[in-house]
Amino acid sequence: MTPWWHEAVVYQIYPRSFLDTNGDGVGDLNGITAKLDYLEWLGVDCLWLTPIYPSPMADFSYDVANYTDVEPLFGDLAIFDHLLAAAHGRGMKVILDWVPNHTSSHHPWFVDAVSSPSSAFRDFYIWKKGGADGTPPNNWVRAWVDAPAWTYDDTSGEWYLHCFLAEQPDLNWANPAVRTAMAETLRFWLDRGVDGFRMDVIHLLGKDPAFADDDEELKGLGHVVLNNRPETHPYLREIREVVKHYDGDPLIVGEVYLLDPAAVAEHYGNGDELDLAFNFQPLFTPWRAPAWKDAITAAYATHDPRHAWPTWVLNNHDASRVVSRLKSIERAKVAAVLLCTLRGTPFLYQGEELGLENAVLGDGEVIDPGFRDGARAPVPWGSGPGHGWPVAPWMTFPPNAATTNVEVERGEPTSMLTLYRDLIGVRKESTALRRGSFSWVDAPSELLVYRRSEGNDVRLIVCNFSHDSVGFSVDGRLDFATGRDHHEGFDGIVRGDEALIFSIPA
Ligand code: NOJ
Ligand code: CA
Repeated sequence: MTPWWHEAVVYQIYPRSFLDTNGDGVGDLNGITAKLDYLEWLGVDCLWLTPIYPSPMADFSYDVANYTDVEPLFGDLAIFDHLLAAAHGRGMKVILDWVPNHTSSHHPWFVDAVSSPSSAFRDFYIWKKGGADGTPPNNWVRAWVDAPAWTYDDTSGEWYLHCFLAEQPDLNWANPAVRTAMAETLRFWLDRGVDGFRMDVIHLLGKDPAFADDDEELKGLGHVVLNNRPETHPYLREIREVVKHYDGDPLIVGEVYLLDPAAVAEHYGNGDELDLAFNFQPLFTPWRAPAWKDAITAAYATHDPRHAWPTWVLNNHDASRVVSRLKSIERAKVAAVLLCTLRGTPFLYQGEELGLENAVLGDGEVIDPGFRDGARAPVPWGSGPGHGWPVAPWMTFPPNAATTNVEVERGEPTSMLTLYRDLIGVRKESTALRRGSFSWVDAPSELLVYRRSEGNDVRLIVCNFSHDSVGFSVDGRLDFATGRDHHEGFDGIVRGDEALIFSIPA
C-alpha cells in the first residue's frame, strides 16, 4: 500500500500570519479553522502548522516553553481540538512542528538547570568548561551571525550550548531522561489525534561526544549545517518507534539541514528512521535547466537506492519567496509545475499559491533574529484596506496586496491561485504524477523534459527555463499549460518561461 504522504500535497501554515480572528493583529488557530473551506477548495491534503506552543517568541515560537499546550496568542487546547476535528471532517490531515533540539530558556527544565549545577535537570542540557583564557569550549558558531554557540553561566562557571539563540539552549539527547521526556510530548499530541510531525533541525540531535572543533575553514557556515553525526540515527529509530505505535500511519518529516543530498537521504535509514526529509536544493539551485537537471538527478540518485521517497520545496518561512528569488511570476509558475510533477511529495508554503513576493521592510522594521521577516508577511485575503484582517496585522503586507490576494485571484483565470488549484487537480487525477516512475527525455538545452508513467497513464512534462520560444514536437494531448494561450492545442512551440503537461500514448 502506498503511504498517504507519498501522494499528499502538504501545505505549511505559519499561524501568526495566516489570519487573525480576535482583533489582536496576530493570526490564530481560529483563523485557520475559518479558512478550511478555502484550503479544501485549493485541494491540499495535509496541513503543517509551524509551532503553536507557548513561547517567549525569541525565535517566533521555535523557542518552546511548554511542549504540551497552546500559545495563548494562538488559542488553547480546546480551540486546537476543534481545528483538528474540522480538518479531519474534510479529510485533511494535520501535522505539528516538533522542536526537539532545543527548548526556550524559559522552559521549566532550563530554569531549573541553570539554577544550580546540582539541579535534577542540569544534564538535560549541555554544559562544558571553557578555556582558561575565557574562551568557549570549542569553536562552534551559532546560526545567523558569527558568534559562539556557547553562553557563559556566571553561577557555575560553565558554558551551555545553543546552536541557535542563547534563548534556545540545546537539549542533551545523550541523556536517556531527555529522550523519555520528549517521547512523552509526541504521545501527548498523537493521543489528541494529530497525523504526525515536522521535526525541526532533526540532524542536530546527535552531537560529537568529543565536542571537537569544526573545520576552521567551514566554521563560518554555522555548526547547524556541519553537524552530521552517527549518534543521531539511533535517536531517530527511537522516535519512529514512538510514533509508529499509533494508528493511521502518522508521518514524520524531518528538517535535515545538511547541504549534501546523500547526507539528507541517510536520515531515512533503512525505512526505520524518517518517513521523509525536506530536500531544499530548489531553494539554492540557479534557474538554468542544466543546474536543475543535476539537482533532480542527485536527489533521485541518493534517495532511490534507499527506497527513500523524495520531497520538493520552493518556499518556507526561512527562505526568500520564489517569485522574489526568480524575479518573475512566469518562472515561478514553471517552478510550481516542477514542484507538483516531479516524483516526490510537494510542500507548499502559505501564500505561495498567490505568488506572494517578500515583504519589503524599512530600516528598523526587521525583528526576526534570522532576518527572515520578508517571507513571513500576512496573507492578504481581500482587496480592501485590511485585506480581510480585522485590524492591522503585526507586520506589513507583501507588495501589491491590493491585487495579489485570494479574493481577486480566485476569479482570475490567469492568476497564480487558479494555476495552483488546476495543477493540484491535474496531479490528483493522475496516478502517473502522484506515484509513477520518472525518466528524462532528451531535449534542447533550454528545456527540461521528463516522463512520468504508471500503467496506461503516461505524462510528459516540458519546462522552458529560457525567455525564448523553443520548438519541440510532442505526440500527445496537452493537459495543462502555465502560459494560457494554448486553447487550440499545442503547435510545437514551447513559449518562453512556460511549462506544459501532456498525456502521451502508453
Ligand atoms: C528551523 C526553523 O525552520 C527555523 O525557523 C528556526 O529558527 C530554527 N529551525 C530553529 O528552531
Ligand atoms: Ca489573533
